[in-house]
Amino acid sequence: MKPVDDKAADYRAFVARGYDACGDAYNADRATNAADVLDGLAARLADGARVLDLGCGAAVPITRTLAARFDVVGADISRQQTVRAHTAVSAASIVTADMSASPFRTEVFDAVVSFYAIFHVPRELQQGVFADIFGSLKPGGYLLASVGRTDAGSYTEPDFFGVEMYWSHYGVDAYRAMVAAVGFELLEERILAHGYSADCHEPERHPLIFARKP
Ligand SMILES: C[S@@+](CC[C@H](N)C(=O)[O-])C[C@H]1O[C@@H](n2cnc3c(N)ncnc32)[C@H](O)[C@@H]1O
Repeated sequence: MKPVDDKAADYRAFVARGYDACGDAYNADRATNAADVLDGLAARLADGARVLDLGCGAAVPITRTLAARFDVVGADISRQQTVRAHTAVSAASIVTADMSASPFRTEVFDAVVSFYAIFHVPRELQQGVFADIFGSLKPGGYLLASVGRTDAGSYTEPDFFGVEMYWSHYGVDAYRAMVAAVGFELLEERILAHGYSADCHEPERHPLIFARKP
């Protein structure tokens, strides 16, 4: 882990280039079943509900599972990930977008999900991401998002599926406060594992926040 804080660096473009290059390797290890992590949300949504998957990656398994019942938009900053997602899940609309650049209109979604993605956005921009998510939800809409667990700052690792990759996060207490500060009510919090299909990865613990726009 190498701490990074170069004010001139564009870490979002760095992440996008990284996933352009490593997406196939990442996706090959990704678990293909996501029903258990989506059940609680799915039970509260009507068929055909509008759902946004932020940082959708190659759309398997999250976007694909959602698209079986809902009207889904998958958004990812990596152009190659969106190409992979489009190929994998034709039932969803897939767009290339940076979640930290306010890419969506107000009050259009019934739910926004984001798995293993917000921690790739520079952490000083993350409250703005949650505020934009809040704005893009209809009243009564839901947020289901994995967030950082520890206050680790911003850092890179040299070999994430063959590329140098960037992460940036606070501890989970800060995310509870951030989500509440933008107006959400917290419904539930649980722990997600790493999401890979094989046991050859180190154990991971990612807080998963389930919240509602009043
Ligand atoms: C670890 S992958 C997770 C992909 C997918 N959500 C999953 O569950 O497998 C992280 C994804 O977030 C995307 N991402 C990172 N920063 C982003 C940003 N600022 N806006 C949109 N997508 C972003 C990456 O390109 C990558 O596809």
